[in-house]
Amino acid sequence: MHYDARKNEHGLPHDPFKAIVAPRPIGWIGSQNKKGQKNLAPYSYFNGVSDQPHYVMFSSNGLKDSLTNAEETGVFTASLATSNLFDQMNISSVPAKYGTDEFELSGLTARQGNYVDAPCVSESPAVLECELWKVLDLPHSSRKKNTGNYIVIGHVIGIYIDDSFIKNGLFDFKLAEPLGRLGYMDYGIINAENSFTKNRPELNEGGEVLPVKEWDGSYK
Ligand SMILES: Cc1cc2nc3c(=O)[nH]c(=O)nc-3n(C[C@H](O)[C@H](O)[C@H](O)COP(=O)(O)O)c2cc1C
Repeated sequence: MHYDARKNEHGLPHDPFKAIVAPRPIGWIGSQNKKGQKNLAPYSYFNGVSDQPHYVMFSSNGLKDSLTNAEETGVFTASLATSNLFDQMNISSVPAKYGTDEFELSGLTARQGNYVDAPCVSESPAVLECELWKVLDLPHSSRKKNTGNYIVIGHVIGIYIDDSFIKNGLFDFKLAEPLGRLGYMDYGIINAENSFTKNRPELNEGGEVLPVKEWDGSYK
C-alpha cells in the first residue's frame, strides 16, 4: 500500500504511523507547577537529540500539564521507565485533572532533582534533569487545550544513575530493562535476550568495507 499521509488515507482500522516509528523510548516526565504541585506522565514521543551538550525532547500532543509546568518553572526531569515499573508508568498516564500528583496516584516516591527543582521517580535507575530550552509549536497549534502539537526541548544539566546499574564502567541497560513503546497498545522490553553487541565497520585505504572486528569494549 501507499497512501497520502496528509489525509491519513490508510484505510486501516488504526493509524499505523506509531507502529512504524517504533520502538520509542519512554521519557517519564516529572514536573511541578509554581504552587509546587507535582506531575508525572509518560511520553514516547521522546528522545535524546544531541550530546555535548546533551539535549532531549518530548512532544505534547495537545496542551498537556507536563508542557504547562515546564513552561511555568523552566525545568523538568525524564526518568527511565523500566519493566519493573510498567504498571506505575501506565497508571501515571491517566488523564487526571491539573494539579493531580501522579507520583502519589501510581504509588511512586517522588524526589527532587539535584540540579533542577522538579520531581523525578526515585525508583528509576536513571534520571535526566533538564532545563527547558525551547518549545516548538508545530503548525496548526493554537495553544487551546487539547489541540496542537508541541515539541519541548530540554538541556540536560544533571544525570542520576543508580550506582548498582554501573558494570565495568557502562550503564547496564540490560539489567535496567528499559521499556520501548511500539505501535497500538504494544510494548517491548530491552534485556539481555533481545539485545546484541556489534562494532562499527571500517573502510580500508581502497574504500572497501572491512570485516567488522570484535568489539574490544572501548567506545568513542
Ligand atoms: C507509554 C505512553 C506514552 C505516551 N506518549 C505520549 C506522547 O509522546 N505525547 C503525548 O502527548 N501523550 C503521550 N501519552 C499520553 C500521556 O501520558 C497522557 O496524556 C497524560 O495524561 C499526560 O499527562 P500530563 O497532562 O500530566 O502531562 C503517552 C501515554 C503512554 C502510556
